[in-house]
Amino acid sequence: MSGKFITLEGGEGVGKSTQARRLADALRARGLDVVLTREPGGSDGAEAIRGLLLEGEGDRWSMPSEALLFAAARADHLAKTIRPAVQAGKWVVCDRFLDSSRAYQGIAGGLGDDNVLRLHAIGSGGVLPDRTLVLDLADEEAAARAHARDGGSSDRIGGRDPDFHAEVVAAFREFARQDPDRVRLVDASGSAEQVTERLLGQLADLLP
Ligand SMILES: Nc1ncnc2c1ncn2[C@@H]1O[C@H](COP(=O)(O)OP(=O)(O)OP(=O)(O)O)[C@@H](O)[C@H]1O
Ligand SMILES: [Mg+2]
Repeated sequence: MSGKFITLEGGEGVGKSTQARRLADALRARGLDVVLTREPGGSDGAEAIRGLLLEGEGDRWSMPSEALLFAAARADHLAKTIRPAVQAGKWVVCDRFLDSSRAYQGIAGGLGDDNVLRLHAIGSGGVLPDRTLVLDLADEEAAARAHARDGGSSDRIGGRDPDFHAEVVAAFREFARQDPDRVRLVDASGSAEQVTERLLGQLADLLP
């Protein structure tokens, strides 16, 4: 029996981390062996790179440097954490993955989707999730949730201007349109319980 690799994506404050935890719990309740992980990070090497990416000044890295760091972190995360777990029959639930690099560095950051996919091919053999769940929420509501959580403080990338983040959100919607089999847009409004049910509905065909 082979495991599955599920990623959660979307803009800032839509509830990815909340839902990653809730989804992992819901899958465990169905008897599945689940690994909950996140990007950037999820392995020793990638967690070290996480600090480089999220801390410091906005102009600490050029966009190509930033994309290369994400690709390096992802290669380590995949090799050390994700692939071994899936091969052992586990379900991996990952809070952000490749599609965040495509949206943030590729589209909003202007590096180009093709270039980000090329880095992923080099670093990670082009591995794609079995399913990607994009949490979709009105900008104002996402901003309100993020603000309620941390009072407006954000990391190096989260602190970019509203236009950047609007492009990120539009990019995620476009990925779902381009690849509807893998990437599913999920309404992230309403209670956390309601959102988790919607996510499970988008995994129905993969569940044993
Ligand atoms: N369905 C919901 N209704 C109301 N509040 C929610 C809901 N889901 C999550 N929240 C709250 O919104 C805030 C942001 O959620 P969370 O941290 O999960 O978002 P995120 O997408 O992981 O954000 P980031 O992009 O910053 O990592 C948290 O305070 C969380 O408790
Ligand atoms: Mg989060």
